[in-house]
Amino acid sequence: MKLTLHIWRQKSSGEPGKMVPYSVEANEHMSFLEMLDVLNEDLTAKGEEPVAFDHDCREGICGMCGFMINGVAHGPQPGTTVCQLHMRHFKNGDVLYLEPWRARAFPVVRDLVVDRSAFDRIIQAGGFVSVNTGGTPDGNAIPVPKVAAEKSMDAAACIGCGACVAVCKNASAMLFVSAKVSHLNLLPQGKAEKDRRAVNMVRQMDKEGFGNCTVTGSCEAVCPKEISLSFIARMNRDYGRAILKGQ
Ligand code: SF4
Ligand code: FES
Repeated sequence: MKLTLHIWRQKSSGEPGKMVPYSVEANEHMSFLEMLDVLNEDLTAKGEEPVAFDHDCREGICGMCGFMINGVAHGPQPGTTVCQLHMRHFKNGDVLYLEPWRARAFPVVRDLVVDRSAFDRIIQAGGFVSVNTGGTPDGNAIPVPKVAAEKSMDAAACIGCGACVAVCKNASAMLFVSAKVSHLNLLPQGKAEKDRRAVNMVRQMDKEGFGNCTVTGSCEAVCPKEISLSFIARMNRDYGRAILKGQ
């Protein structure tokens, strides 16, 4: 199939960018990123700069990939990262517009690559459980209720890709932060630091310049791991209780 791609090209965060049109030949068995690999091989052979895009595992696990395809974060396939998106979902003659995540807290590094280190700083503010060093504790020393374990696993599925921020009209990071707060706050091991974690991670989120949540639900709609909006309500409860307790 032959596609026309309009791709955001920008040399660095300090320079202006623009959409540049390209033609590429792809087949339905390729992944979307493999189709971009073909384009980059063509560009390199012609002595032009290849398109920069983030990727690592290409299996929907690491959270490195992600950009907008025709205005939708990770493209048209629900519950799918762009690395898992296949060309069979497109047809000959399609015109696609590829843009990086757009949010003040995610400055463009180059082309489709943005700086998501704001997420790392939010995790550093509380996304951990403090433990005393020593011998490895017995795996069954702290029983975890099944319901809590399953809910926690649902939240832990967040891969930190940033699609929720990119699609939100407020550039809110609440879905990401609530998943990261909840997956630890739900477990007995995370309870001791529950209040501090909720407050510190929300404060860091605000400091990084992410917007507020107005519950439009666009984040949940594009999240490749289908993280539920209910985690935002859960985090708001944890945060509210912590503030009332004087955290
Ligand atoms: S909540 Fe979903 S969209 Fe947001 S960072 Fe996590 S996996 Fe990505
Ligand atoms: S490259 Fe790892 S999730 Fe897409």
